[in-house]
Amino acid sequence: MRMKLFDVYPLNDITIAKAKGAYVWDDAGQQYLDLYGGHAVISIGHTHPHYVKRLEDQLHRVGFYSNSVKIPLQVELAAKLGKVSGKEDYQLFLCNSGAEANENALKLASFYNGRKKIIAFKKAFHGRTSLAVAVTDNPNIVAPVNQTDNVLFLPFNDEVALEQAFAANDICAVIIEGIQGVGGINIASNAFLQKIRSLCDHYNAVYIADSVQCGYGRSGKFYAHDHAGVNADIYTMAKGMGNGFPVAGISIAPKIHAKYFMLGTTFGGNHLACAAALAVLEVIEQDGLIENAKNVGNYLMEELKKLPHINEVRGRGLMIGIDLPQELSMVKKNLLFKHKIFTGEAKPNVIRLLPALNITRVEADLFLTAFQQELEHLAVKA
Ligand SMILES: Cc1ncc(COP(=O)(O)O)c(C=O)c1O
Repeated sequence: MRMKLFDVYPLNDITIAKAKGAYVWDDAGQQYLDLYGGHAVISIGHTHPHYVKRLEDQLHRVGFYSNSVKIPLQVELAAKLGKVSGKEDYQLFLCNSGAEANENALKLASFYNGRKKIIAFKKAFHGRTSLAVAVTDNPNIVAPVNQTDNVLFLPFNDEVALEQAFAANDICAVIIEGIQGVGGINIASNAFLQKIRSLCDHYNAVYIADSVQCGYGRSGKFYAHDHAGVNADIYTMAKGMGNGFPVAGISIAPKIHAKYFMLGTTFGGNHLACAAALAVLEVIEQDGLIENAKNVGNYLMEELKKLPHINEVRGRGLMIGIDLPQELSMVKKNLLFKHKIFTGEAKPNVIRLLPALNITRVEADLFLTAFQQELEHLAVKA
């Protein structure tokens, strides 16, 4: 008997053996264009030389030591993140995954104002640990032990429902994705985020901006919530932060004060994780990747909107959802197996583009050509 894997992931029959920039290769040498970025994780391109070198150099010095000693790389990372994100007066707490970032943000909010009731939104996804899954709108992944009546799910972008919920409850925090990812690429309107800000100010509640997927420059601003021109109290981030190295964090407004032991983690902020995160920010800054995400993203959106048979194109920067009618449900599979292009998906039938932030127009055009062919081909059959 050989130990088996716990079978929780439906897999594509592909083994990736090599990756570079916007491309990956399988174990038979077949090349694929990667517009999925391993689920929005690859922010600066696969095996970026600066990233590889920084991690390699760090590994030769020290890979890990716990948060019981000074780790100057954490201080360097906080300073760099403050600068690139434009929130230099915020404080950084480092952890390991998006769920953990949200978990810590929600705990911190509750420590801050002593309250329990959280507002989350329909179609939200915030992760799979106990609080993160409790604010996720998917009963299939909420175990009985995670069920709580501390969470109110409100309709997305509904200012009246939000005002009413604040008036009727002692609200601790609001958690919202700037652009819902798993939910199908739904943009939080600027007016709605501004309303969250003003209600949180009025009631001394905490505005938590889940930037795990839509953050780190993907939307054409550092945090997608920045488009609304108001600050959140806590930003949570992961995915693109380490370009594949598991590193996550929360950026915390100055009004929230730290106390020893209120948060903690063994692995969070280790030397290797910081080196990976620093390499990512250095490349984002030096290569103007936020600007590139905006430009190539705008180009893709404009071109996609010209194509027939599509219900709707939604998104900002390089976080794009293409909402297709049910009869075109084969497009995603055909892009992968016929055209060798990885894309993401959201239910029921949305193609999600989440490529590295340095993809070029040439790569965008490769996708557009293949996508157009598939639309036409499948639309004729349907
Ligand atoms: C918006 C959002 N928040 C949180 C998470 C959870 O992140 P992780 O899978 O790293 O725990 C995800 C993952 O897809 C996400 O999209």
